[in-house]
Amino acid sequence: MAPVAIHTDWQGRGIGQNLIKYGIHHLKKEGVTLMFTYGDPNYFSKVGFSQITEKVAKAPLKLSQPEGWLCQSLVGSEIEPITGHSHCVEALNKAEYW
Ligand SMILES: CC(C)(COP(=O)(O)OP(=O)(O)OC[C@H]1O[C@@H](n2cnc3c(N)ncnc32)[C@H](O)[C@@H]1OP(=O)(O)O)[C@@H](O)C(=O)NCCC(=O)NCCS
Repeated sequence: MAPVAIHTDWQGRGIGQNLIKYGIHHLKKEGVTLMFTYGDPNYFSKVGFSQITEKVAKAPLKLSQPEGWLCQSLVGSEIEPITGHSHCVEALNKAEYW
């Protein structure tokens, strides 16, 4: 769900939130239970994300801004700590993006 960017001519019209909501809806239909993103907590909280720590779930790479590590449950349950490693798509698998 990140990075997300809207052309400056079109910002502030709900497009960003609607794009994210579209993604959430799609992943729910696919049966995904937990969804993670890395971004501005003030913005992503508008679409249901909360801040978590790496004690709850490990990020794929070292976080330069740990306050931006965010999660939401897609099944309405509490977010319980999960074990194991995570990984991201190849295009974003670069330390400088994290
Ligand atoms: C952040 C961004 C994607 C938002 O998209 P958008 O279509 O303009 O946003 P929406 O219209 O869906 O939402 C607007 C709301 O988000 C708020 N908002 C926008 N950017 C914000 C930010 N960085 N932090 C907190 N709130 C933000 C607005 O104040 C507005 O709040 P309101 O609904 O209470 O009035 C867009 O401003 C953008 O492309 N910014 C530059 C790239 C960026 O910073 N991306 C985030 C990295 S993950």
